[in-house]
Amino acid sequence: MRAVAIPDPTPGARAALRADLTARVTDLLSSNRVVAAGGRYTRPARRTYPHQWLWDSCFHAIVYHQLGDRALAHDELRALFRAQVSSGPDRGRLPHMTFFGGGPGEADQDPEGARAYAREVSLWGDPRASTITQPPIVAEAVLRVGDAALWRELWRPLAAYYDWWLRRRDPRGEHLYVSFHMWEIGADATPRGDAACQRLLATGRSPRQPDDASHNPTARKRADMLTARYLMHDDLRGIDGDELAERIDEAEAQRRRLRLLGHVGVDMQAYLVRNLSDLATIGEAIGEAAAAARYRAEAAAIAAAVNRDLWDEEAGFYFDRWDEPSQVIRVRTPAPFVALYAGDLVPPGRAARLLDALADPDRFWTRWPIPTVARDEPSYDPDDYWRGSTWLNVNWFTLRGLIELHRRAEVPRALELARELARRTCELVDLAGFREYYRAGGRAAADDATTAPAGFGPDGFGWSGIVLDVFRMLDEELA
Ligand code: GLC
Repeated sequence: MRAVAIPDPTPGARAALRADLTARVTDLLSSNRVVAAGGRYTRPARRTYPHQWLWDSCFHAIVYHQLGDRALAHDELRALFRAQVSSGPDRGRLPHMTFFGGGPGEADQDPEGARAYAREVSLWGDPRASTITQPPIVAEAVLRVGDAALWRELWRPLAAYYDWWLRRRDPRGEHLYVSFHMWEIGADATPRGDAACQRLLATGRSPRQPDDASHNPTARKRADMLTARYLMHDDLRGIDGDELAERIDEAEAQRRRLRLLGHVGVDMQAYLVRNLSDLATIGEAIGEAAAAARYRAEAAAIAAAVNRDLWDEEAGFYFDRWDEPSQVIRVRTPAPFVALYAGDLVPPGRAARLLDALADPDRFWTRWPIPTVARDEPSYDPDDYWRGSTWLNVNWFTLRGLIELHRRAEVPRALELARELARRTCELVDLAGFREYYRAGGRAAADDATTAPAGFGPDGFGWSGIVLDVFRMLDEELA
């Protein structure tokens, strides 16, 4: 780790900053909140993101909880189940987006957002929601912000969602779970999907409905990869339609989906390990012991599969896979750092090697860590959407993992790294605001000294409010 001197503010100064950010986050979430058909929720950002997004709402609920507002935290999560799939092969799936704009009174609250409705309905062919999912972190949010009453209320739909994952997303039966679209990964433009995207672009086709980039003018996105995501969407909808109309059987549909992307992310496995364990904890608390035991066993099976199939001993890193038959994606991103938060998924010796990469200025220890692609990768671009820029949720998962390592006294450096990462994260938000993402650092480590904090994407981005939980960590676990 490079010794950039970030002053550790005095306790008084830190308390003042924390109070200021708390007030700003309260305003931010309240101005992003809407009342929609069947519930109220918080938009990721006004104008840019009018709908309800699955994992964004989980972060929002945790921030509301941090602000002490139980009712808003619970409603944010309840609203996620409004458009859960109720029948057919995908029963139980939660959509990555539940649309705003079609229900009574919605257009009055946000006329611009409501105009986006028609476009989404035509893109997805569904009046309520998208037909893919997103990282499954809803169980951990329900556990953290809920109480026995909420756990009982949400148990059935929650269990149905994870049962859907177990039934539909392990098509090879190897306890490694698959994403079928880049938007499902959460890190939409990650170079982990480049090979799949290039294969689609090589067909020379044009998407049925190309992106309208004007809704997010300050985000830098690679146009070719954006086109590829829309092509992938067209193809996935085609496969879904063929399966629903029984033109092909489930096995053939899954084989085609694997060929389209078939992404096995280390981070996705970690979300499942953590969330199946948390779902089990909820089940045990409300007398659902048999289901709880089944979820715990599956979490353990995923952890074993990750360590058996995704670890590269020479590189000292976990790598994702894609395609059918599956191929390794040898690109270093923070996905394995996220994996640290999933209990004992990562054994201590492997965790120590991951921290070597995290603390390396030529890889992940940039001026404003953690870049979403390592600095020594050819695809690294510190300002580009998920291709090197810094995103607060990645930092938050990693911090939780580092704290977990420290608690188990397994890797001595974990505490020092966590403190430094937490301080820089708080400083970044203080200086650059609540943006969608941030510049990670220079192209070379030597440029870091002059890298000013900068944010991209909409100002007033909800999940960046998670910085309040980073402050809590600094004052509690990292004190
Ligand atoms: C972008 C992000 C995704 C997020 C969504 C709404 O698509 O990549 O992770 O959920 O915006 O904020």
